[in-house]
Amino acid sequence: MSQAVHLIQLAGSDQSFPCADNDTLLRAALRSGIAFPYECNVGSCGNCKFELLEGVMSSCWPEAPGLSDKDRAKNRGLGCQSRPSGPLQIKLRTSDKYAPQHRPVRTTATFVSSHAITHDLSEFKFETATPVAFLSGQYALVQMPGIAGPRAYSMSNVGLINGNSQTRQVMEFQVRRVPGGHGSAHLFDQLAPGAQVEIDGPYGMAYLREDVERDILCVAGGSGLAPMVSIARGAFSSPKMRDRKLHFYYGARSLQDVCGLDMLQALSDWDARGHYQAIISGEPDTANLPVPYLRGFAHDAVAQSFGERLQQMEIYFAGPALMGQSLLKTLIDLKVPMDQVHFDQFY
Ligand SMILES: Cc1cc2nc3c(=O)[nH]c(=O)nc-3n(C[C@H](O)[C@H](O)[C@H](O)COP(=O)(O)OP(=O)(O)OC[C@H]3O[C@@H](n4cnc5c(N)ncnc54)[C@H](O)[C@@H]3O)c2cc1C
Ligand code: FES
Repeated sequence: MSQAVHLIQLAGSDQSFPCADNDTLLRAALRSGIAFPYECNVGSCGNCKFELLEGVMSSCWPEAPGLSDKDRAKNRGLGCQSRPSGPLQIKLRTSDKYAPQHRPVRTTATFVSSHAITHDLSEFKFETATPVAFLSGQYALVQMPGIAGPRAYSMSNVGLINGNSQTRQVMEFQVRRVPGGHGSAHLFDQLAPGAQVEIDGPYGMAYLREDVERDILCVAGGSGLAPMVSIARGAFSSPKMRDRKLHFYYGARSLQDVCGLDMLQALSDWDARGHYQAIISGEPDTANLPVPYLRGFAHDAVAQSFGERLQQMEIYFAGPALMGQSLLKTLIDLKVPMDQVHFDQFY
């Protein structure tokens, strides 16, 4: 069934974009190349707020935590949750850094296979009907049948390298089973090979910067493994990055959660340019941990290992909110320029 398409006008500018009534304002704007600010794309962060000046719209998720009662009273909406019922005029401050490198597309995708990485983390492989060009470190929205709202998952496979014309049919995600979580339960328990989902992407600003001549630090915690593995895979495939060293710090609760090293060791040249460090925050599973593991938290380990040398590094991180906040504070305290730090907060 064809969808009605409405024109969305940005007040005080000559910018406008079409939005189908089954799309959201944020995603439709990005599909038109408009630099609509956002981060999570799933109603949690509040970065995509705008003000409705004229017209009628609805919300896919009226209770989304990214919008307060005060916002609602001021006629504000979340770009990632708002759908037009007709033409709209909205007030929004665009920002160039959100201009998409590759415009997001919606496509059906077929589930191919999955395999376990740890006791609660598995990799899921999909094949898309339409090629999706993405950069290493980006994420996509996966809409599963019967689940309210899409879930954001970062790709773990390598994206486009050096602007070449490769487009990917395969998208791989590494997903943690969340206790009580509906989306992860569907992926782990109900998806059979051949099942179809809708994938919408790419999204996210924490993508690999190939042109930067600095060594790389990737810090991952829990399910933050996927985008950091994608960054590492991208960095080791890029002809422009042959001289770059990459440090990969993985924060885990316990020994059984530690993962990622096998994926990195599969990269040619890893032994010469790569360095992996696991950090375990919980009680040790054994009295004497094997040598490569540190005890404590990822942000402390990073500060102790590199100190002010972090100012000369390009830093990517992904994982639980608490890890992200602690790491960010550490980097600010160590005076790391924020334009060298890239992350999309997981919610
Ligand atoms: C940018 C980003 C990248 C991410 N990458 C990964 C990754 O690579 N691997 C991974 O395991 N996890 C990732 N996550 C977390 C993931 O998207 C899920 O939040 C997490 O897996 C829990 O989902 P769930 O369905 O199991 O739990 P649930 O509790 O069922 O759902 C939690 C999330 O679903 C959304 N949601 C819930 N109800 C609704 C509704 N009614 N309408 C719309 N949305 C709703 C909300 O975003 C909420 O945070 C990422 C999150 C973000 C924001
Ligand atoms: S709430 Fe819309 S991008 Fe996070």
